[in-house]
Amino acid sequence: MIDHEPGEQTSSANVSWQQTRVGKAERARNLDQWPMILWLTGLSGAGKSTIADRLEQEIQSFGKHTHLLDGDNLRHGLNSNLGFSLEDRMENVRRAAETAKLMVDAGLIVIVALISPLRSQRDAARALVAEREFIEIFVDAPLEVCEARDPKGLYAMARRGEIPDFTGIDSPYEAPLEPEVRVDTSELSVKEAVARILDWLGKHAPRLESPASEVGGAIAEPAGTHADGKEPELPARAGLPLAGKRNDKFIISNTARCGSSMLSTLLDSHPRVLCHGEILAAPHESAGPYHALRKQGTAIDDWLRSYHGQRPEAFLYDVGFNPAGNQCVGFKFKLEELLLPEYRVFRDLIVADRDIRILHLRRANILDQYISLQATKQTGVFSIRFSRQRPKPRPFKVDIPDLLAYVREDRRRHEAARELYRDHRGIDLTYEELCQSQSTTLARVQDFLEVPRAELATMMIKVLDKNTDLVRNLDEVREALAAENIEIEA
Ligand code: ADX
Repeated sequence: MIDHEPGEQTSSANVSWQQTRVGKAERARNLDQWPMILWLTGLSGAGKSTIADRLEQEIQSFGKHTHLLDGDNLRHGLNSNLGFSLEDRMENVRRAAETAKLMVDAGLIVIVALISPLRSQRDAARALVAEREFIEIFVDAPLEVCEARDPKGLYAMARRGEIPDFTGIDSPYEAPLEPEVRVDTSELSVKEAVARILDWLGKHAPRLESPASEVGGAIAEPAGTHADGKEPELPARAGLPLAGKRNDKFIISNTARCGSSMLSTLLDSHPRVLCHGEILAAPHESAGPYHALRKQGTAIDDWLRSYHGQRPEAFLYDVGFNPAGNQCVGFKFKLEELLLPEYRVFRDLIVADRDIRILHLRRANILDQYISLQATKQTGVFSIRFSRQRPKPRPFKVDIPDLLAYVREDRRRHEAARELYRDHRGIDLTYEELCQSQSTTLARVQDFLEVPRAELATMMIKVLDKNTDLVRNLDEVREALAAENIEIEA
């Protein structure tokens, strides 16, 4: 038993927080990993410790730095003065969570295996760290199964009344409502359960990406990121550190069909860069980490949308520019949207924040761009990965006045952006150089963003092979463009 009221012994009223010069980001960077807590909760006998042990081994095997906090072991040391009353369990879980937080601060991937029976306990643990740093893993098995396993003979003792307050028998266990991952150990082997966790991490935790998917196998985990209750309530600032006006933000500014998805996926593959696709528009495209988050369920999607609509500044910085442990973060903000009244609030915020670096991306060959746009209208295919078949749009006749109006509008948008972003640091990029001299162009972009140069990769390929093959009246089009002095050779 503890002899203080919870909270009493931790009174910090007269203690001020000391800011240190080396922070989590620096420590994590040196370890080259994304620190986080993998929090395993479940009944005694559900398999938490076994899975945690194996999970740690796997994560270690691809060179990551971990630590395992196991409930039973903690109760031999740090928590040796605690029993199993609800009050003691509160303190047990609180200490474990605070310890895990310190370890996250040290840059580690911390695996916690604790019954942690109450939702409120786990939510409190979650609130100690940043949003993407807490992964709740429900090690699920029906009570009957755990009781039948009874590896330590404790259920039998509890049934005989020899252990009071036994979880599941005469002390409550509240199953997680929306854990990031659930593994049902009455159906899955330890190996399969671990594979499922690694698979989830491979998809959602960027720093573990490639190694995890190698080890993890391909068991698809249904979506389920924490949405903090069903109601899209505004927010839960807890755990979402404001990126604030710092020096680590960028946007890709372009019109449609300039290769911005290619650029954003390339940048996102950088180990220290987080790059979303479009997040301000309700886009057709669905690539990037932000959209992965949205796809995790309607609750989180509703929540993000209401956040976007009702608290644009918080949305911009907490979501869009939240570096989530990365050195640098950005997203696409297309010129088609930038100038519309409904985006005014975002435009003003971005224009006012001169720390944001602008990647001005254009396509030198505006005819190719126009054709590409027409083709997407015809096929509905906006981008493809190398594994997919290319669409085959039908050749068409270009409507010359429409093309000329499009060219004028595109120019106007680019000029307006130059003007709006005139006080921001910027870099000029073209689609053509991104395709033709990709590594030198990307080196230039990385230098501009002041991130170390890394090998970048994308799964995207060009949708069309040779755009002009689609045009039935190419000569006429060329003549019209020449008459207007519109250059189309890259
Ligand atoms: S917690 O509820 O406070 O999170 P914790 O995970 O630290 O529990 O410890 C659980 C371990 O203690 C179990 O694996 C089990 O071996 C042992 N144990 C002993 N008494 C109890 C009890 N009354 N309820 C649950 N587990 C118990």
